[in-house]
Amino acid sequence: MIIDFEKQSLAENSMKLDMLLGADRYAHIITFGCQQNEADSEKARGVLASLGYKPTDDPSIADVIIVNTCAIRAHAEDKALSMLGNFRALKRRKPSLIIGLMGCMAAEESVVNKIKTDFPYVSFTLEPNMLHKLSSLVLKYAEENKRSFVFGEDKGDVVEGIPIERIKGKSAWVSIMYGCNNFCSYCIVPYVRGRERSRSSEAVINECRGLIEVGVKEITLLGQNVNSYRSDISFAELLKRIALIDGDFILRFMTSHPKDVSEELIAVMSEFSPKIAPYFHLPLQSGSDSILKAMNRTYNKDRFLRVAASLRQRIPEIVLSTDVIIGFPGETDEDFEETLDVLRRVRFDNVYSFNFSPRIGTKAAKMTNVVSDEIKDARMKKILELQDVISYEKNLSYVGRRERILVEGVSKRNPSAFSGRTSGNKLVHFSSTVSRIGEFIDVVIEKAGAYDLFAKEI
Ligand code: SAH
Ligand code: SF4
Ligand code: F3S
Repeated sequence: MIIDFEKQSLAENSMKLDMLLGADRYAHIITFGCQQNEADSEKARGVLASLGYKPTDDPSIADVIIVNTCAIRAHAEDKALSMLGNFRALKRRKPSLIIGLMGCMAAEESVVNKIKTDFPYVSFTLEPNMLHKLSSLVLKYAEENKRSFVFGEDKGDVVEGIPIERIKGKSAWVSIMYGCNNFCSYCIVPYVRGRERSRSSEAVINECRGLIEVGVKEITLLGQNVNSYRSDISFAELLKRIALIDGDFILRFMTSHPKDVSEELIAVMSEFSPKIAPYFHLPLQSGSDSILKAMNRTYNKDRFLRVAASLRQRIPEIVLSTDVIIGFPGETDEDFEETLDVLRRVRFDNVYSFNFSPRIGTKAAKMTNVVSDEIKDARMKKILELQDVISYEKNLSYVGRRERILVEGVSKRNPSAFSGRTSGNKLVHFSSTVSRIGEFIDVVIEKAGAYDLFAKEI
């Protein structure tokens, strides 16, 4: 069901909070995880701003602290819990401090139980699809000092109209679908984000048009399986209609599932490149047919190679990246060789590799044929060695080329330079005496590294 968010309740709650706590109030939000979580944090920021909280980077002056968590691997969870631990002392000093745990961990029963017993200073937990309840949770704690745990309430609704406070001025995330139906055997996302549901094309297109009208230059459509978008029109048609909106902007999307890369999608990308960015993140996970089957990925090596080849053939300038899981239960040296073989054949521009991490509740967590950490680490090393060479060679082919980039900000490599991204999503550093953040500029690539390019403005 599509529900409209009740905005007027925010103004009422804001007034009540002013009376209870005074008007000078600050909110601090920490975000772990994927772009979907970044987008959710922008909604949390929007709600908190409407409630009268000013943003702050300093948790010690905050009146509300929100930790937006990720559950994808054990490491991500450990980091979030240790971060919460850091806030215990702040709560002791300021008993009215509201600490909320949001995001994918808040949809795990074991985590919610742990928060109830071991983290008494946490005021509430809020599962991802219930973000529209944030305002009432904050008010409830401020009024009654009562803890709440919003868990297991997700009914699969799409809530429209939650205020969004975007942090990246000229680049915007736009969520178009939520949840996942694929149940890859290693993955917790379907359990914590629920089943797939898509926004209406009208709502998405109107949001994009509004963003372009206020000068946004880069729109990234988001979804756990963005190309599984199913509404009154197909994902490819949605991309096309957004690309046809008047204005100078670039359109991206994240993350796709290889099984849903349709001919229609490739055709639209080809027709509208580079307005629709010639960039595709195509998660492989493994190159071995038997491991792919055990992962429940629904494609085999051959089908994956055909999809990658088709993208390269129809969109010659395309930049490809992928995700790989190392050490899935039962992965032999031969299975791993198949993965390396795909990396050698496709020659991705970037590979993000992760050691398998068992997640409670998933099928793979119960598998007993585990791969040791030593083997995982040795395989990881091999992938990095191979990919560093491929990424560097790929980047070398850009030297001498003219590229149009969107300037993002001050370069992290060199504080006196700026950085931006090509339409294919390559990171480019360049020196300039004037800041052109948020503008498209033309550069010539002069030098390449494995992870980034260095250019001169023209
Ligand atoms: N929906 C996307 C990605 C979601 S999670 C897709 O289908 O690819 C992002 C990446 O995290 C995945 O691509 C996968 O490589 C990795 N990942 C997911 N679960 C994992 C686990 N249990 N252990 C290690 N890596 C995992
Ligand atoms: Fe997880 Fe698979 Fe869904 Fe991606 S498609 S979110 S890896 S279950
Ligand atoms: Fe993590 Fe949830 Fe995203 S588990 S990767 S924040 S969907």
